[in-house]
Amino acid sequence: MIRIALLGATGSIGRSTLEVVARHPDRFRVVAVSAHRSIDALADIVARVSPEIAVLTDEATWSGRRGGERANGTTWKVGAEAATELAARDDVDVVVNALVGAAGLEPTLAALESGRRLALANKESLVAGGPLVRPALKRGGGTLIPVDSEHSAILQCIHGAPDRSVQRVVLTASGGPFRGWTRDELTDVGPEAALKHPTWDMGAKITIDSATLANKALEVIEAHVLYGLDYDHIGAVVHPQSIVHSFVEFVDGSVLAQVGEPTMELPILYALSHPERVPDATLRGFDPVACSPLTFEEIDHGAFPLFGLGVAAGRRGGVAPCAFNAGNEIAVAAFLEHRVSFPGMARVVEAAMEAVGDADPRTVAEVREADREARRAARAELERLEESPA
Ligand SMILES: NC(=O)c1ccc[n+]([C@@H]2O[C@H](COP(=O)([O-])OP(=O)(O)OC[C@H]3O[C@@H](n4cnc5c(N)ncnc54)[C@H](OP(=O)(O)O)[C@@H]3O)[C@@H](O)[C@H]2O)c1
Repeated sequence: MIRIALLGATGSIGRSTLEVVARHPDRFRVVAVSAHRSIDALADIVARVSPEIAVLTDEATWSGRRGGERANGTTWKVGAEAATELAARDDVDVVVNALVGAAGLEPTLAALESGRRLALANKESLVAGGPLVRPALKRGGGTLIPVDSEHSAILQCIHGAPDRSVQRVVLTASGGPFRGWTRDELTDVGPEAALKHPTWDMGAKITIDSATLANKALEVIEAHVLYGLDYDHIGAVVHPQSIVHSFVEFVDGSVLAQVGEPTMELPILYALSHPERVPDATLRGFDPVACSPLTFEEIDHGAFPLFGLGVAAGRRGGVAPCAFNAGNEIAVAAFLEHRVSFPGMARVVEAAMEAVGDADPRTVAEVREADREARRAARAELERLEESPA
C-alpha cells in the first residue's frame, strides 16, 4: 500500500489525484491532505477519505472557524509549516505537490531532502528554486517525478535510454484560447475569455498562464531543471489538439513522442506508480482516427511575449526565473481582478525581472528575498500602469 500526502487536495490536480486513488484502493491510500482557504471542500475530502492529518495553510481562515472541523479521527493542523512537515513525514511514501505558485517551494525541498518520492505538479517551485532542487535531491536521495503532462511524456520516452543519448526535447502547447490572435486583437481581452481553455480543464492560474504562454516558458525552465538540458536543446511548438504531449529526439535522429487524450489522470497515475504501469480501464481506449488531424505551428512571439521573457529568464539563470515567476503571479492575480490588460501583464513581469541581480541563490532565504524584491517591483509597475495605462 503506497501512502500518499496530497498537498493542494482541493485544487484541480488534487481532485484528479483523489479520483485516481479512489479507483485503486488496493494500491494507494491518501493519509494526509492540505488546502489553503477552502475549508469546506477540505472537510468534505476528510469525510470521504479519512486521512490521518488535514492541514489548512491559511491561518486567518482557520481562526474564523476554529473547532468545527474535527471528525473521523483526523488530526487538523494549521499553517504553511504544517504542510511542509507533511512533505517530510517518514510514514509517507509519495508526496503529491499540487499547490499553486511559489508557496510550493518549501514542501518540494522538504520532500526531496527527506528522501521521499515527490510527484510534482507545482512547477513554480522548480522555477523559483531551481538551483536548490538538484542539491536537495542528491542530499536526500529521493525521487522527483513530474506530473506536468509534457514532462511526464519526456520521462516516459527516456525511460531506459542510455545516458547522454537525448539530443533535444520539444514541448507542445495547446496555444490556449487566443491561438492565432494578433497582438492588437488581444488588447481588450478579459479574464472571462482567457479562462475558457480549449482542451484542458485546470485551475485559474495555470489557465491564464496557458492563454499567455507563460505556462510554456515555466515548463521550458522546468525541463531544464528536471533533465539538465541546456536551453538550446529545449524547444516548444503549438499543437492545438493536445494529443502529443512532448517529443524527445535522440542523438541518432530517432524521435519518440508520448501521445494520448488530454487528461491529467494519466500523468498523475504514472507519477504515483513509476516505473510500474498500473492497469486502468478508465484511461484506456486511444483512437488515432478520432484524434486526427494532428497539427503543429510556431509560437507567435509578438502576440505572446511572456513565452520569450520566461525563456530569457531561464537562460539568464540565478534568481531571474524566480523573478519571472513572482512577477507572473502578481500579473495573473491582477488580470483576474481586471487591474491589468492582457498585454500589460508582460510589462509587469519585465519590471519584476529588472528588479533582481544575477547571483545564484544558495538558500531558501535568498530565493525568498529575490521573490519579495520582484513582487515589490511588479506591484509598483502595476500601479504605474493603472495610473497611465498607455
Ligand atoms: N490543473 C492542471 O491540469 C495542471 C496541469 C499541469 C500542471 N499543473 C500545475 O499544478 C499546480 C496546481 O494547479 P491546479 O490547477 O490544480 O491549481 P488550483 O486548482 O488552483 O489548486 C491549487 C491548490 O493549492 C492550494 N493553494 C492555493 N494557494 C496556496 C497557498 N498560498 N499556500 C498553500 N496552498 C495553496 C489551493 O487551496 P484552496 O482550494 O484552499 O485555495 C488548492 O488546493 C500548479 O503549479 C499548476 O501549474 C496543473
